[in-house]
Order: sequence, then C-alpha cells, then structure tokens
Amino acid sequence: MHHFLPNILIFLLVIQAFLANCCLEHERDALLKFKAGVGDISNRLVSWRGQECCDWAWIRCSNQTGHVIKLNLPNTNFEFVDGSYEDFLSYWNYHSLTGKISPSLASLSDLKHLDLSYNNFGGNKFPKFISSLKNLKYLNLSNTGMSGMMPPQLGNLSRLFYLDLSCEYSDSILYTDTWWFSNLRSLRYMDMSGVNFKDSNDWVESLNKLPSLEVLVLSDNGLIKLSNSLTFVNFTSLRVLHISSQNFNSTIPNWLGSLKSLTDLLLESCNLVSPYPATLGNLSSLSKLSLGFNSLDGMIPPMCNLTRLTYLSLSDNNIEGDIGELLEKFTLGKLQYLDISWTNLSGILSEAQLTSFLKLKTLELSGNNITVFLDSNWNPTFQLNRIGMFSCYLGPNFPTWLKRQKEVQYLSLEDTGIDDIIPSWFWKLTSLQFIDLFSNRLRGNLPASLVHMTKLNSIILSNNQLEGEIPFLPISLNGLSLSNNSFSGQLRKTYESSYRKKSVRSDNLSGEVVELFPCGLTNLMYLDLSSNNLSGHLPPCWSNIGQDLILSNNKFSGATPSSFSCSKQLTVVSFNNNNLAGDFPIDLKFCTGLQFLDLGENKYFGGIPDWVGENMHQLTYLRLSSNLLSGNIPSTLTRLEYLQVLDLGNNHLSGPLPSHLDNFTDMGQSFHYLDFDSGESLQTITKSSNLVYDSDNLYFWKSIDLSNNNLTGEIPQNIVVLDGLLNLNLSHNHLIGEIPFEIGNMTSLESLDLHMNNLSGTIPQSISLLYSLEVLNLSYNYLSGSIPTGHQLQSLDDPSIYSGNPNLCGPPLKMSCESPKSDDNNDSKSKHVGDRDNWFYLFIEFGFVVGFLVVFFILLFKRNWRYDYFRMIDIGFNRLHVLTALAFERWSAERA
Ligand SMILES: *[C@@H]1O[C@H](CO)[C@@H](O)[C@H](O)[C@H]1NC(C)=O
Ligand SMILES: *[C@@H]1O[C@H](CO)[C@@H](O)[C@H](O)[C@H]1NC(C)=O
Ligand SMILES: *[C@@H]1O[C@H](CO)[C@@H](O)[C@H](O)[C@H]1NC(C)=O
Ligand SMILES: *[C@@H]1O[C@H](CO)[C@@H](O)[C@H](O)[C@H]1NC(C)=O
Ligand SMILES: *[C@@H]1O[C@H](CO)[C@@H](O)[C@H](O)[C@H]1NC(C)=O
Ligand SMILES: *[C@@H]1O[C@H](CO)[C@@H](O)[C@H](O)[C@H]1NC(C)=O
Ligand SMILES: *[C@@H]1O[C@H](CO)[C@@H](O)[C@H](O)[C@H]1NC(C)=O
Ligand SMILES: *[C@@H]1O[C@H](CO)[C@@H](O)[C@H](O)[C@H]1NC(C)=O
Ligand SMILES: *[C@@H]1O[C@H](CO)[C@@H](O)[C@H](O)[C@H]1NC(C)=O
Repeated sequence: MHHFLPNILIFLLVIQAFLANCCLEHERDALLKFKAGVGDISNRLVSWRGQECCDWAWIRCSNQTGHVIKLNLPNTNFEFVDGSYEDFLSYWNYHSLTGKISPSLASLSDLKHLDLSYNNFGGNKFPKFISSLKNLKYLNLSNTGMSGMMPPQLGNLSRLFYLDLSCEYSDSILYTDTWWFSNLRSLRYMDMSGVNFKDSNDWVESLNKLPSLEVLVLSDNGLIKLSNSLTFVNFTSLRVLHISSQNFNSTIPNWLGSLKSLTDLLLESCNLVSPYPATLGNLSSLSKLSLGFNSLDGMIPPMCNLTRLTYLSLSDNNIEGDIGELLEKFTLGKLQYLDISWTNLSGILSEAQLTSFLKLKTLELSGNNITVFLDSNWNPTFQLNRIGMFSCYLGPNFPTWLKRQKEVQYLSLEDTGIDDIIPSWFWKLTSLQFIDLFSNRLRGNLPASLVHMTKLNSIILSNNQLEGEIPFLPISLNGLSLSNNSFSGQLRKTYESSYRKKSVRSDNLSGEVVELFPCGLTNLMYLDLSSNNLSGHLPPCWSNIGQDLILSNNKFSGATPSSFSCSKQLTVVSFNNNNLAGDFPIDLKFCTGLQFLDLGENKYFGGIPDWVGENMHQLTYLRLSSNLLSGNIPSTLTRLEYLQVLDLGNNHLSGPLPSHLDNFTDMGQSFHYLDFDSGESLQTITKSSNLVYDSDNLYFWKSIDLSNNNLTGEIPQNIVVLDGLLNLNLSHNHLIGEIPFEIGNMTSLESLDLHMNNLSGTIPQSISLLYSLEVLNLSYNYLSGSIPTGHQLQSLDDPSIYSGNPNLCGPPLKMSCESPKSDDNNDSKSKHVGDRDNWFYLFIEFGFVVGFLVVFFILLFKRNWRYDYFRMIDIGFNRLHVLTALAFERWSAERA
C-alpha cells in the first residue's frame, strides 16, 4: 500500500503523458500529405518527421483527446526589408510555403485554429475542404495568393470566431457571394479586404444577421451599394467598422446611429456624399472617426455628444467654411489626432479655438486657406508631435510659438508665407524628424552643424532664399532637398572631431581626417541640391545615394570621380548644367536601376558607352545634350525599350542614326508610368511652342532630339512607328535621303524639326495628317516639289519653315509650282496667281474643313483639354510634393 499508491500515480502520469503526446495516425498522415504537397524552401517543416506529430513545430494537440487542434503556420517571420514592393515580394516568397494546400487536412476533424496566412499558394483555387473543418474557431488564410470563388459552404463553419480571408496584397482575385456570411452565427471578427463581392447588393443584410460581430474590415471589395435603410439593426455588437476603397456614391446611412457599441468608425475612400445623417452624432462610444477621402460637402452637424473622441479625420472632402465653426461641432478635450487637411476650410485659427484641446498630438491642417494666428507666447497644455500646415498662412514672421513645442517630430510649413530668417532656437528642437519649409521666403544661413539633431530624417528647404554653406548633417538623414536657394561653397568638409564615428576617410594630401559630403550620410536616399551656387568637385561617393541624386544647375566641376558602388535603387541622376568634364561617368555602369539620367550642359567628352544600352534596362529618360560627346550613337541604345526621352543634341556625334528606332516601344502610344517621385526640380526639358514640359508633366513627354551633331545617313523609315512621339528634332546634321514616306503615321507629333540637313526628294503628302503639329521646320535642305496642303498644315503658314530649299514650290512659299519664270511682270502675276490659288485652295479646303470640322473641334478640344490637364497637374503639384515628402517619411519610418 505504502508503495502502491505512488506507483499508481506514476502509472497514471505516464498514461497521461502518453495520451498528451499521442498522435493519431490518420492525422499524422494528413499532415505528412500536406507537407509533401507544399514547397518549403526555408525548411520550416523540417521537424515534421517521426511518429509524434504532436511534437512537431507549428502543431498543437489536445491534451485530452490527442487530436490536432491547432495548425499555426503563418509566414510572418519576415520584415519589409527596405520597403520596395519587389523586395517585399521576394522576401515574402522566400519564407513562404508554396504549392497547394492538401485536402488531406480535412481529416483534422478537431482543428480549431488554422493559420496559413501570408504563405504563397498562388495559382490555386480556394480550397473547398476548409468548410468541412466544423470545429474551426480561427481561420486565417489572409494573403495566400489563392484565387477563384470562395465556397459558400464556408457558411457551415458556425463555430468560427475569427475569419481573416483578406487578400489586399495579392495579385490574384478572390470572389465571394455574401449570402452565406449570415450562417457564421458565432463570428466576431471578419476581414475580407480585397475579396471581390459578387452579389454585392445585399452584403449589409447578410452581415446584419450576425449579432456577435464585433470587428468588420472591408476594403476594396468592389462594393457599390450601401443600404440606407435597414428595418432592424441586428449587428449591434459591432465595435470596429472599417470600410474603405469602395464606390458607394451614396450618403452615410442612418442606421449607423444604432450601432451604439461602435468605438471605431472608419469610412474612407468610399465616395460618400452629403448630407450627413443626423444620427452620427449619437454614437457616444466613438473614439475613432474617419470619413476621409470622400465626396462630402458642407459643414458637418453637431457631434458634441462624441465625448470620447480621440481620433478625427475628415481630410480630403469639401467641407468648406470656417475652421472655428467646424471645431465648435466637436468635443475636443480628449482629441489626440485631428486631420482636416484638404477640406477647403478657411478662417482664422487663434488661441481661442485651441483652448478646448487638452491632449492634441497631431494637428493636420494642410491644403486649406487657414490663417494661423498664434501669439508668440502661446503655451498650450498639449505638446504636438505632428504639425501640418502646408498652404495655410503663418507669416510673415517665423512662428515663435513653435519654440515651446518640444516634442514635435513632423513639421510641414510649406508655402505658409514666412518671410524671415530661421531663428537659431529652431535648430534646438531635437525631437524633429521631418522638416518641410518648402516655398517660403526664408533668408540667411543655416547653422554650421545640425549633427546634434540625431533624429532628423528629412529636411526640405527648397524654394527659399537661404545662403551660405551646407551644414554638417546627422547620419540619420534620409532626404535632403535644398534646391532653389543660394547655397554656395564646396561639398568637402572637415567634420568636428566629436563626430568622427562612421566611414571616416583619410585624406592623404593633408594627413588630416576629413569627411566628404555626402559620404558619411550612409542613409541618404534622396539628395536634391539643384539650382544653387555650389562648386568644386563631386565627392567620390556620390553613387552611394540611395535613390535620387539631383545636383543640376550648380557650378560643380572636374571629372566625375568613380567609387564603383551604385545602389540598385538609384533611380534619378541629374547633373545637368554644371561644369563637369571628362569621360562619361564609368560609375553609372553599375546603376542598373536608373530611370532618369540627365548629364546635359556639361563638358563630358568621348563616346557614349555601349553599356548604357546594355545595362540600364529601366531607363526612361536619357539626356546628354550640350556636351562634347563624339563617336557614333551606340546601336545598343535601342535596347532601352522603356525609353521615352532621348536627347543627345548639341554634341559632336557622327555616323548614322540607330537603325532600330522602332524598338523604343514606349515611344508608342502607351504610357509607361515612371515610378520615381518626379520631385520638384528635375529640369524643364524642351519646349514645343507654348507647351513646357517640366517635372510635373514629364510623364507625358516623349521626344527624340539628336540635333546639332554630325550625323549622316538616312532617316530610318521605321521611325514612323513611334506614334506616341511628341517631338522629333534631327536638325543641324548631315542627313541625306528622303523624309520617311509614312511620316503621317507619327500621329502624336507636335514638333518636327529637320532643318539644316541634306534631305532631298519631296515632302510626303502624309505629313498633312499630323493633326497635332504645332512646330515644323524643314528649311535648308534639298527638298523639292510642291508643299503638301491640308489640315493642320494650313496653320503652319510661315514661309521660313520651308526656305532654303530652292526647288520647293507652292504656298506658303511665293514660288508657284507652275511658273518658274521670274521677270518683273510674271513676278507680280505669279503673286496674284498665288493669292488666287490660295483662295481657290481655301475654297476647296472648305469642303475639307466642313468634313473635318468635327475632328477639328475634337482636336481643338483635346488640345485644350490637354492644357487644362497639365494646368491641373500643376495645381496638384504641391500635393505631389507633399506625397514626395510623405514618401521620405515612409522611408524613414521603414528604416527606423
Ligand atoms: C491541458 O491544456 C489546457 C490548456 O490547453 C491546460 O490548461 C491544462 O492544464 C492542460 N492539462 C494538462 C493535464 O496538461
Ligand atoms: C491573420 O494573419 C495576419 C498575418 O499573419 C495577421 O496580421 C492578422 O492579424 C491575422 N488575422 C487575425 C484575425 O488574427
Ligand atoms: C437578427 O439576428 C437573428 C439571430 O441571428 C436572426 O434570427 C434575425 O433574422 C436577424 N434579423 C434580421 C432583420 O436580420
Ligand atoms: C453619383 O450619383 C449621382 C446621382 O445619384 C449621379 O448623378 C452621379 O453621376 C454619380 N457619380 C458617380 C461618380 O457615380
Ligand atoms: C446629445 O445627447 C443629448 C442627450 O442624449 C440629446 O438631448 C442631444 O440632442 C444630443 N445632442 C446632439 C447634438 O446630438
Ligand atoms: C484665402 O483667404 C483669404 C482671406 O482669409 C482670401 O483673401 C484669399 O483670397 C483666400 N485665398 C484663396 C486661394 O481662396
Ligand atoms: C530590341 O529590344 C529588345 C528588347 O526589348 C532587345 O532584346 C533587342 O536586342 C533590341 N534590338 C535592337 C536592335 O536593339
Ligand atoms: C563633322 O565631321 C567633319 C568630318 O567628318 C568634321 O570636319 C567636322 O569638324 C565635324 N563637325 C563637328 C561639329 O564635329
Ligand atoms: C502606317 O500606317 C498605315 C495605316 O495605318 C499602316 O498600314 C502602315 O503599316 C504604317 N506604316 C508603318 C511603317 O508602320
């Protein structure tokens, strides 16, 4: 007895332990089949062998029954490496299980928890067997790349608490009906973002049958209907309702007011329209309210009963009206986050309006016409960490109240009318991470060093009147934009001894330790120093810059040093208009990700290397004009299929034109959207009459300019397939042969300049089909015969565009085609005849004009439309700039 009891106990414990680990054979087989069916490059299933499947990684068995109850295999052990989508994808795929989810898993009859999220089962249909796992409480197949229709049998999973089938990062399309949602009686959490809802009209009614639903996340489901009336509101347990990226084009429904438990209501980018429902103000539990990016207009009704509000965003609507009036609608005491940017508000923001805020952290007023009028001694109870006041008016003095905002991290005071020096206390706000003072009238020098601002990510001081040298900058810096100021001096600097931490170089000449800007700034992604008075040599580490390097319009000189390292993400290199000399920069050979390269207006000499065409597959914009480049145009250049702008004008290039110009497929009518932030200061490139292409509308510019060289041979006929080309300039060369017969196929041409060549033959009649042509110059060639007439050519009636071709005749030239004689009498007669011909021709053309009136007006309209479009982009530009700025911020956040 004395020994017996412990023995029994031990026996029971052994049994228990045995049971706990006992893996049921058919379940083990099911798991092994699953393992056999998937690819597993990173060996996540390496422990799946042997008998005891309950000991395998990612598995849990019930300690009572031995059944597998949990299969938890999300692919979440990845990080966004450096933010680019491609990196995300490749990294994601690397750690993913791939292939197919074996239906054998259906035999895990007790499975309660199944998580395979973020693995890549792309190419497969959504597995039907899931719906037989009746005990599932948690199902997460988010972003698994599967496609096709979701089986409505999923509605059988009546014990499900959590359902996450979102697929917003995946390319493939999942569809679903919505009627079966109503069978998920126990559901508390549903995320279906990215899934296309087929019978989308009744989705609200289906979900309304789920009395336990607490969290509903729907984004980008192709929803177009939002029922405005529900006879009975059933899903009153809803706490979080997050609906975004739909196109309702309807009002915010009244029934929302019945969801008394709501704490988070986010209805963003849903094309919601006014009026606002009165009931919204009843949601007294709301802590987070966002109605951003909709089409709401007019003032919002009183919301003062939302006493728990901590987060409010109404951005990107058309509220209009007075800021003070808007703020009075809300109870602000608990508010931490306020975003009312781009809502067309006006009026004055003074201390009085801000007294009700006690806890505010984010104040985003950008894109409004608000005058911010705060006393320099204003000292509120709250400390802001984000201040966005772009386009509000704060000037003319630098806002002194900022001095006491010691926690501010993000500050955007772009275009706020400040006309002042930057006070020295500003640079003591060491909490700052992001500074944007773009487009003010800031004057004076920057401090010699900003290295104490160790959190600084981005500084944008472009478009001001700052001068002096560029300060020492902290290593944390990601983005620096100082364009359009008067900064001067060289980029070479000695660092303070306290700051000789990283990548210090030794200068052999002086023996002294120096740091070359921007070599020490190892995090720099974006550097724009354009349009200043900077001089001296480029530092030997310029290609370390992560993404954009813009040094144009300065006085940099000397050869481009080579450091043989080039980030693959380097997208933009713009050195134009400096005094740089020497061979084509060899460093660029390794910059295979380059999209934009401008070395124009320098003194580069030698040939254009073959590797430009061989290596820079992504190049869309190549400008080398006004240098001393010689030799042939390398035939490899036509491998650049994305090229939209090729500008080699004003060099000493010789030899023939590349024979495969037809290879520039992106100079056709398609658009390949450049994916660089065009930034604020890529150079204005070329003008065709009154159309100026600059960084705003660069996307649309397609041009070949090889003018002012020594090119010989004929114009290849295949050039006419470039029907998206807007500008073709081959003037001032020695080209021979004829103008391509089918030149009329280049239907987008706005400017065609072939003057000062040796072209012969007649002008092809098809040229009259170039409806968009605004600039034409064919002078000083050996063209002969009569000048074609009709359509757009009639407006190009300046005779000088044909002059210097002794054998051309017909209007607008004085020489008539029938009468080559030229004594005095004939001359006046021929002039007369010419006039008459003109009228006659106009008369005949009248038929055409009537016939083509429609077309003509369409084109006229089209042109106007285009200008308007550009103007619109122009207005949007500041916004673009903000987006650029936000992009910096994103980098910063991601790299932090
Ligand atoms: C069985 O598992 C549950 C939770 O999963 C745990 O609370 C319990 O202590 C376990 N029982 C034994 C005997 O291990
Ligand atoms: C599903 O998995 C993803 C990634 O593993 C995770 O972010 C998400 O929160 C999960 N969903 C639920 C409802 O837990
Ligand atoms: C409300 O929910 C209950 C229980 O799920 C259901 O029986 C009833 O039909 C629902 N009412 C409506 C109007 O959907
Ligand atoms: C929105 O609906 C109105 C009529 O209800 C219609 O006139 C308008 O064109 C619609 N807008 C969009 C973008 O669908
Ligand atoms: C706020 O709530 C009170 C009491 O429920 C109600 O009388 C008042 O009308 C509400 N105000 C608004 C603006 O909804
Ligand atoms: C901004 O508001 C001021 C008055 O506060 C007004 O004079 C000015 O015209 C407004 N500007 C714009 C662009 O609406
Ligand atoms: C044309 O472009 C393709 C790639 O798009 C390239 O492989 C081919 O070599 C190019 N041909 C010429 C003549 O450049
Ligand atoms: C053009 O080539 C000729 C000889 O082929 C040469 O004499 C002339 O200097 C060249 N012109 C330029 C501008 O390079
Ligand atoms: C020019 O256009 C005509 C009519 O569209 C077409 O038949 C012809 O092939 C085109 N020529 C070239 C070289 O693309």
